[in-house]
Amino acid sequence: MCGIIGVCTRVDKKLNTGDVVYKGLLRLEYRGYDSAGVASVEQGVLRVLKGKGKIADLEKKLGLSRVKGSVVIGHTRWATHGAPSDVNAHPHTDCTGTIAIVHNGIIENYRELKEELAKRGHVFKSETDTEVVVHLIEEFYKSGDRPYDAFKKAVSMIRGSYAILVVFASAPNTIFFAKKDSPLVVGLGDVANFVASDIPAILEHTRRVITLRDGWVGFVTGDSVFIEELGKGPVNPMEYVRVVEWSLESASKGGYPHFMLKEIHEQPRALVDTLYGLSSDPTLREASKIMAEARRVFITAAGTSYHASLHFAVALSKIAGVLATPFVASEYEAYLPVVREGDVLIAVSQSGETMDTLKAARAFKERGAKLIAVSNVVDSAIPRESDIALYTRAGPEIGVAATKTFTTQTLLLSFLVLDYALLRGAILKSEYDEYARELSRASDLAAKSIAWSEGLAKKVSEMLRLKQSMYYLSRGVGLPTAMEGALKIKELAYIHAESYPAGESKHGPIALVEEGFPVVFVVPRDVYYEKVLLGNIQEMKARGAWIIGVAPEDTSLGEQFDLFFRVPSSHWLTTPITHTPPMQLLAYYTSTLKGYDPDKPRNLAKTVTVE
Ligand code: F6R
Repeated sequence: MCGIIGVCTRVDKKLNTGDVVYKGLLRLEYRGYDSAGVASVEQGVLRVLKGKGKIADLEKKLGLSRVKGSVVIGHTRWATHGAPSDVNAHPHTDCTGTIAIVHNGIIENYRELKEELAKRGHVFKSETDTEVVVHLIEEFYKSGDRPYDAFKKAVSMIRGSYAILVVFASAPNTIFFAKKDSPLVVGLGDVANFVASDIPAILEHTRRVITLRDGWVGFVTGDSVFIEELGKGPVNPMEYVRVVEWSLESASKGGYPHFMLKEIHEQPRALVDTLYGLSSDPTLREASKIMAEARRVFITAAGTSYHASLHFAVALSKIAGVLATPFVASEYEAYLPVVREGDVLIAVSQSGETMDTLKAARAFKERGAKLIAVSNVVDSAIPRESDIALYTRAGPEIGVAATKTFTTQTLLLSFLVLDYALLRGAILKSEYDEYARELSRASDLAAKSIAWSEGLAKKVSEMLRLKQSMYYLSRGVGLPTAMEGALKIKELAYIHAESYPAGESKHGPIALVEEGFPVVFVVPRDVYYEKVLLGNIQEMKARGAWIIGVAPEDTSLGEQFDLFFRVPSSHWLTTPITHTPPMQLLAYYTSTLKGYDPDKPRNLAKTVTVE
């Protein structure tokens, strides 16, 4: 969950390599931000600058961008082994200070290796699992191996997950890399080559990328790339080069103070692009066929993607008349015993790299289930391991909290429900067309929802910032969206928030409600829900709750709300698209008002590649 980047320039070309890595680290900061560092090799001398703190602060203190050299590697950290500190920050070096490593992942057998190396006289400076790898490389290098052979031998001895970059003072024009279970891409540029955890980090320099596969090792120089599958032999890198569509603008703030605000406002565009992508993509029908042939449908994800999965399960039941089983990815073991051939698992992950989801997907596949992936990142780990991959087209999401990837996921999954329902004969073509017409308004609906709620969100945040706890209630089709609202305020504004089915709130949660306690009601457009929610609103009001409604403009409940976020009136199927933006904005403005950084909420990393 750290971010790594390396640049290796052609010796005859001038490129400010320190600045390239510094800017790349800033783009990777969403992956971790408790410490950072860089290592450069200049005229045969290895130099390391690193420390605890945010990258911009370290830049002021240490001048990360000013390092020079034909190769520079960098790291931004989200601590797993060893607290955030100067010594635990990457890069780590060997005993001689001539080999440096940056690593994203977890080395599972580091204790055994460390003991063995300590017996051989290695002295460790940090508490990290990563440092053992550089000492292991040193061990082979000392015994006469060439840098690449020493690197490969060390990699073959480690277990766990890793994306690793290594530089040697004695190999000043080369970055060695290895990948397993943590993302890593090679970027091919005109004057330099790059290796990074993700594409936005290098987008300023190239769009020609190779997404590395598990088990691949190799190296880049300024003008070449060599890849092999460990123990199996060379891979032709050119077969894997693809040109990415993402623009540089999509990976920068574009005038907004934070990525999150930009990404909230990008939702109308992201929805149009996703819609357009779906209309010309035969894989949606192929996925529907897999579902239609399946005995049972499971759907799994983590965090926000899980909320999109819940929306899918509700829609599948209501429209296709089929019960799917949604589950939180890290809980997959409880479902595994019943899984067998003939089942299908839909794994939803915007990054395509979340370890919990990947593990669940692998376990289901092993038991014979088919796998459909839904992701925002082409060629990422989960899509690669799936039978079929469907992609949202939200563009890169840099803010740690998911926004545009959520609304686009719900759009894509809603179309999957419709296509599947049509294929099974659960709905007529005319009904399909009617639903599809509603969904094709998604972009316009999101645009209105954002425009109508931004001013009120700013105002409400003034009051909300003083609250310590709140509820997000809804029923049925509104519940996944309410859960998403609660997650946003919790992770960004650090307000304790829980989401419950509104009917369940009287079975316990209502005990907390007193004068001024904020309760957000997410009201889908549906007469039945309005009727039942009225009772729940009144129960809360009777105890002095401060009622914030997120409801269609023509709701019959308007007068019940102390504050009313009006959203455009549309079919219940689009509830996540109409109702989520006000809650995203509320979380955003409350977070900034409290002085927090919504792009980098504490203790969180965007892509969680550990279990
Ligand atoms: C919340 C958030 C996380 C992610 C979760 C899954 O705002 O961003 O809860 O939704 O870590 O990530 P993906 O979708 O990449 O698998």
